[in-house]
Amino acid sequence: MKLVLEKKDRIRMFEEGNKLPYDLLLLADETIDAIDQYIHDSEIYIYERGDETLAVYAYQMFDEESIEIKNIAVSKSNQDEGIGQKMLLDAVEKAKKRGFKYVLIGTSNAAFRQLYIYQKLGFEFYEIKKDYFTEKYHEPIIENGITLNHQLVLRKKL
Ligand code: ACO
Ligand code: ACO
Repeated sequence: MKLVLEKKDRIRMFEEGNKLPYDLLLLADETIDAIDQYIHDSEIYIYERGDETLAVYAYQMFDEESIEIKNIAVSKSNQDEGIGQKMLLDAVEKAKKRGFKYVLIGTSNAAFRQLYIYQKLGFEFYEIKKDYFTEKYHEPIIENGITLNHQLVLRKKL
């Protein structure tokens, strides 16, 4: 799959000093505290349509060979339009150009849509972090009718 953007759309690097789009970031993570643990050391990209920010993704170096996408989120009213997949393709292209070998992404045991998209774009199951969500959060988190417990890490070879 190749990255093609609509005429009015662009993906650009988030400019430091601007207000972080926590409203979007919080769609992909539970709390601002959790986001703050990685967002300040991440490269952040925003998806714009005209003047409007529709989506965001952030990644950081995981090791010498890999980057990890830490957060990817599309505004609720623009989900299922293909924007998430475009941002993933953009991240993959960037990682490839910089000579990385792998892109990692973690998600929950209940994230059916995300697991579909990641595998559609060539990510494969790599690791299960047992009890990741139950240990990280005090309150149970329910998604798609299922309580989150383990984190599934997927990896794409570039
Ligand atoms: N099960 C399986 N597939 C589904 C489901 C479902 N329940 N719902 C939708 N889909 C499919 C659609 O049919 C579509 O597939 P297609 O392109 O083959 O027709 C695909 O999923 C949706 O693709 P996009 O439109 O590219 O997805 P979107 O722009 O909505 O982005 C994202 C996906 C980022 C997960 C977005 O929905 C979102 O922001 N969700 C809330 C935040 C979130 O969960 N982020 C990821 C957390 S993990 C992390 O951040 C590292
Ligand atoms: N994503 C998420 N949930 C879905 C999807 C989907 N794509 N499609 C349906 N569902 C949900 C339904 O909404 C329903 O949920 P709910 O009861 O909470 O509303 C549930 O899945 C369906 O439940 P049932 O009606 O009980 O399922 P069914 O009687 O169809 O049995 C089975 C499931 C055995 C998987 C059946 O569909 C089947 O025979 N499939 C083909 C064979 C197969 O894949 N078997 C399993 C292989 S693994 C093994 O055999 C060990």
